[in-house]
Formats: sequence, C-alpha cells, structure tokens
Amino acid sequence: MARTSECRICSGLVTEFIDLGRQPLADAFRLPQSPEPEFFYRLAVGTCADCQMAQLMEEVPRERMFHEDYPYLSSGSTVMRAHFEGIATRLLETEMSSDDPFVVEIGSNDGVLLKTVAAAGVRHLGVEPSGGVADLAAAEGVSVRKDFFEESVAREILAEHGHADVIFSANTFSHIPYVDSVLRGIKALLGPDGVFVFEDPYFGDIVERTSFDQIYDEHFFFFTARSVARMAELSGMELVDVEHLPTHGGEIRYTLAHAGAREASEAVKLLMVEEERRELTSPATLARFVENVERVRTDLLAELRRIKERGERVVGYGATAKSATVLNFCGIGPDLVEFICDSTPAKQGRLTPGTHIPVRGPEEYRSAYPDYALLLAWNHAEEIMAKETEFQKAGGRWIRYVPEVSVS
Ligand code: TYD
Repeated sequence: MARTSECRICSGLVTEFIDLGRQPLADAFRLPQSPEPEFFYRLAVGTCADCQMAQLMEEVPRERMFHEDYPYLSSGSTVMRAHFEGIATRLLETEMSSDDPFVVEIGSNDGVLLKTVAAAGVRHLGVEPSGGVADLAAAEGVSVRKDFFEESVAREILAEHGHADVIFSANTFSHIPYVDSVLRGIKALLGPDGVFVFEDPYFGDIVERTSFDQIYDEHFFFFTARSVARMAELSGMELVDVEHLPTHGGEIRYTLAHAGAREASEAVKLLMVEEERRELTSPATLARFVENVERVRTDLLAELRRIKERGERVVGYGATAKSATVLNFCGIGPDLVEFICDSTPAKQGRLTPGTHIPVRGPEEYRSAYPDYALLLAWNHAEEIMAKETEFQKAGGRWIRYVPEVSVS
C-alpha cells in the first residue's frame, strides 16, 4: 500500500511516489569532533490527487534547518549575483508605481538581491530567519528583520511600513510547508496592484533531468504552473505570469497578483497546456522518474568503484545541499570521494551531513588535481568549467550525474 498524507495546499490526498530513504539535514555540515547526534528523517515525495502539488511526506521543523549557523550564501556564484542584480533592476524599473515604493523579500539571505534595491534608495525589508546570513546583508546596507515570514509578521510589517509593491522570494517559498499562513500574510501585505514574485526549482525540469537531488529537507514543495495556479486561487490570488529560468538547474519565476487585478499572460496558459501534454504528475511519468533515479544510483556507484579499483582519485566539486541527497541515497562516503572542495568558508573544515566526507577550500583541489572531479554543483557547471580549465588541461575528467552518469 502506498503511503499517503494530507496536502498542505488543498487538504487533498497526497500519495507517495518516491522514497529516498533516511537522510540528514542537507545543510548540516558537521565539525569533525562534534559530539552532537545527527538528525535524520525519511525523505519521500508524493503528489496531491486534487491540486497535483508535489510535496515532501515528512516535514522537518524549521528551526532545525534555518538558524544562526545556516551556511548557504546566495551570492556564492558570479552568475547568481548577476541574476539577482538583473531581476532587482527589472522590478525597480517596472513595479515601482506608488509614490514611495516598498519591496519585501522573504528569505533575503546575504542581501544579494536587496542590496541593489537599497542602492537605488527604495524602501525595502528582508525577512530572514538565519541570523548569520542576515548579518551579512545588514553589513551591505540592507534592512533585515530576523524572523520567519508568516501571517503575524506580515501584519506587523504592514502596520509599520504600509503595503508592499513587490514581495519577492527566491529559493525560499518552496521551503515553507505552512504556506497557508504565508499566503495570508502576502495577501494582506501586498498593495492592490502589487505582485508576489518567486523563483523555485521546476518540477517539470526535475522530472525531465532526473535531478532528484533537488529533493531534500529544505525543498518542501516542487511547483508546477498548474499547482501554483490552484494554490494562488485558494488564497484569493492569481498566477499572472511564468518565466522559465536556467538558474539552479531549471526554475520558474512565478508572478502572483490579487485575483482580477492583472491579466494573466499567454505564457501561463502555454505552460499549463505543456504540463498537461507531458502528463507531468501521472503515475506512469512518476514511475519512469523513479526508474531513472535508480539507474543514476547504479551507474554512479559503478563508475566510482571502477575508479577506486584502478587506484585513481576522485574529489567532489561543490558541497551543495543537493549533494546530501545523492551521496546519502547512493551510500557514497570518503572511501569513494576523498574530499569535496567548496568556496564557502562556513562549510570548509567540516564534514558532509550523513556521509562525513571532508569539505576543503578550492586551493586544496588546485594544489594537487585529482584524476576525476565529481560535479556536485552541476547547476553552476558553466561558471565552474570556465574557472577550472587547468584541471582538464592537466588530464582531469569530470563526472556528472544529471541527467545521467557521464565522464568527460
Ligand atoms: P548551490 O548549488 O547554489 O545550492 P544548494 O546548496 O542549495 O544545492 O550550491 C553551490 C555550492 O557550490 C555552494 O556551497 C558554493 C559552491 N561553489 C563553489 O565552491 N565554487 C563555485 O565556483 C560555485 C559557483 C559554487
């Protein structure tokens, strides 16, 4: 019997389609001597029979994931910095129609987007529960409230600052299971012609690319145009635009407005038709996805074991949150991957969650190139390839596992 749960969007019946097993928190990089026991949960995803929303079967308490030591920095990639500057500039040009505009960001991390808004002299507020990254944003001149965004917080912001012209959120909205409270807050805080714009990994891309590593504790929902449209409708809003983005391995930027306030773009209809055609959430599609995930696990383990038997070295590139799912699901530890290089200071000197592979700075990788580099930050491939040309010149080869295992 398939496991079921209640949909966090519409209370419909969610039926599980994939179980990725016992997993640690994806961003809980450990100090080598830490006496703390590791937290594990069951990572599984289901889809709702009514609204079709794909969602985790088990929720991890938010305070375990987002806290003072949350290590992820949104500005850790040159491409992402340019991306956020670009969308901030566009929103400043197109959405600031009120006299004294106000922009709110949910999950403002290190201020990568809001610093452009701050530099333009526009009123803004980032809401960010992870204290360490919030401090980095404040140091950039960004106004931040250290909190989880929810209805009560939204109402306090409304009372203090008035309505928002834009509420923005990147790689955060999908992290929030208690979405009803958040949507009530957004609905209250948003001005009559305001927009709620959010970017998150697209379920259609996850299925197409077998990028099952997008599934981890922090990613609670896996959106489609259809499920987001239904979610918007249930909260008195409307999905009025979608834009497919290349970031983070394939995302959609969704724009919501108050119901009836704006006309929905053609792109919304087209994407919904495309999702119908692909039967994105049909049992057959999901069963194929699970088969593909299992094939990646078999092929990746076989490749790494062959390399080890030849006595050659493999180093991981990018201690991503995503990699926790792949490494733990496949059972890849320091016996197969010597260490993982990562540019984030807060991850260096620590061990990967669950699999305990050491994380070191990129200089260690560059000072003695391995025979193979396992591209764990595959969503930043272009940027990394451009920066690491010397590795290939030295005879090094890249191992990829999205959309399938390949060595080049
Ligand atoms: P990312 O894929 O953005 O997200 P997630 O952790 O949510 O899966 O993480 C990229 C990681 O890779 C981050 O820890 C920074 C690191 N990184 C490098 O070490 N070098 C690089 O050139 C880039 C682009 C990222």
